[in-house]
Amino acid sequence: MTDLKIRKLPFRFDDPVPFQWNPANPEFGLVANAIGILVVAFEDVIVSVVRQVLPRIEDPEVVAEATAFLRQEALHSRAHQAHLAALVRRYPGLQETIDGARASYQRLLEENSLEFLVAYTASLEATFPPLFKMILDHREDLLAPGDARVASLFAWHFVEEIEHRSSALILYDAIVRDPNYRLRVVGPAFAHAAGVYSEILASFDRHVPFEDRLVDSRRVVPHRAWMYEIGVRIPGLARLARGAFPAAFEAVPSKVLGRTFARLMLSQLPNHRPANEPIPEFADQWFQAYERGDDMTRFGVSTPAGR
Ligand SMILES: [Fe+2]
Ligand SMILES: [Fe+2]
Repeated sequence: MTDLKIRKLPFRFDDPVPFQWNPANPEFGLVANAIGILVVAFEDVIVSVVRQVLPRIEDPEVVAEATAFLRQEALHSRAHQAHLAALVRRYPGLQETIDGARASYQRLLEENSLEFLVAYTASLEATFPPLFKMILDHREDLLAPGDARVASLFAWHFVEEIEHRSSALILYDAIVRDPNYRLRVVGPAFAHAAGVYSEILASFDRHVPFEDRLVDSRRVVPHRAWMYEIGVRIPGLARLARGAFPAAFEAVPSKVLGRTFARLMLSQLPNHRPANEPIPEFADQWFQAYERGDDMTRFGVSTPAGR
């Protein structure tokens, strides 16, 4: 049976939540906000796809894994929606951004086979362990300086994404049964996700005044962000590449960034097994704190375990 735990955390965002929740690293603040909108749209599709394919699965262990996976994703989506609702109260134009991302994922759902959608899900989910390990390993710079509620929301979500890292591939193997199909889907899948993500970022500049964003969203759109991330690491170019604030992932050493990139590439290979991915120490600290009964909605993202 599955090892996944269903954790309903009572996140509350009723007091004003600053759009720029991380003024010490505002580029990362925008990246996280865009991820928040993307996941609400994407995870609702996951829930719908898993519900549709569940009757086709005969193995009770796979059914248990898929059911726990969809329940975790539904809870992630709900918690992020509470955060986004607080942002929309302050910047009503952001509703247009959220609706746009949802509409794009609804079209994806309507226009593609369930096999494609399961493969899309497995491809994207496979990128999360390396990406979120990098973020959690550098939480002191990326998460800890920000608003504790928002930082805790992302810490919880990233930790559970690492916990259920094998789920989408287990589902894929049960439904698609062709390890090579995922490789054929990866191009369109990432083009779609990157397109939605870039649209979200671009809309921030329209809906949120600069003084509340602190940085131009164009600095973090994927097709430009990599130039700044490399530029700030090259002596002589750094001054030109750096804006008023550090680049989103500037605190991450170049070697780690390179290793993460390599792991992202490897995560798409047919023989990839997410269960073998290295896990951030923070994940264990987080699980222990949860078992102790700590308030995980205000969980310090500093070492060790927020104490
Ligand atoms: Fe999730
Ligand atoms: Fe996930």
